[in-house]
Amino acid sequence: MRLIEGNDIAIGYEGDPVLSGLSFTVDEGDYLCIVGENGSGKSTFIKTVLSLIPPLSGSIVFENGLRQNEIGYLPQQSGIQRDFPSSVMEVVLSGCLNRHKRLFGYSKEEKERAVYELSRLGMDSRKLSPFQELSGGQQQRVLLARALMATDKLILLDEPSAALDASSTAELYGIIDSLNDSGTAIMMVTHDIHPALNAADTILHLSHGSYFFGTRDGYFRSEMGRNFLKEAGHDHQ
Ligand SMILES: Nc1ncnc2c1ncn2[C@@H]1O[C@H](COP(=O)(O)OP(=O)(O)OP(=O)(O)O)[C@@H](O)[C@H]1O
Ligand SMILES: [Mg+2]
Repeated sequence: MRLIEGNDIAIGYEGDPVLSGLSFTVDEGDYLCIVGENGSGKSTFIKTVLSLIPPLSGSIVFENGLRQNEIGYLPQQSGIQRDFPSSVMEVVLSGCLNRHKRLFGYSKEEKERAVYELSRLGMDSRKLSPFQELSGGQQQRVLLARALMATDKLILLDEPSAALDASSTAELYGIIDSLNDSGTAIMMVTHDIHPALNAADTILHLSHGSYFFGTRDGYFRSEMGRNFLKEAGHDHQ
């Protein structure tokens, strides 16, 4: 079942395109990896899908009842955001939908859901800890739980493993794989070759104003894919 269809879109800022003519689809349960060099437009693409910035042209259509506010989002980290003076539980609950409508805090159901999301990610024992006292990998797991408060249909992750060591990275990708196995569609920006090689169904590679979008196998046969793998030191047969 289709979730998103992007048709001939141009993305960029103030009328100045970073990339034009981009078409893509995301289906229920898909795992889409977005790769490309720094500045190629990966975060711009993610922000466009989220309607944080408008496409300069073309259309992005949500299908089968997917709503804008049903997309969980883990933004690319700047460091500043990590100093939330809040508990783990408060950070996760801040991912609730329609928060502005409520005057008297969170409902029992929302609190139960927050604990459930934390326990899925192995962080429920830290729910009362100050967020800034967690390690980088633990913080990423809490921010993933926050993104999951909005939905379990589709989450967008912008470089979730940045600044994590190898074992925290492997652990985080394991968690993301298991979320995908349980039916959540994933759109993830990454510089790591491994998720693209192992987990992704589809790849979007942005490069110098052009792009590849298609299946993982198609990508491995494409010129862009073969060059990317060669640079990353992989010889894929
Ligand atoms: N708010 C903005 N206003 C104007 N131009 C921007 C803005 N944000 C990014 N850009 C420009 O758009 C281009 C794409 O940036 P983007 O952040 O999408 O790249 P990226 O692929 O996510 O890179 P990275 O791997 O470094 O995160 C860059 O040339 C960047 O300078
Ligand atoms: Mg980026």
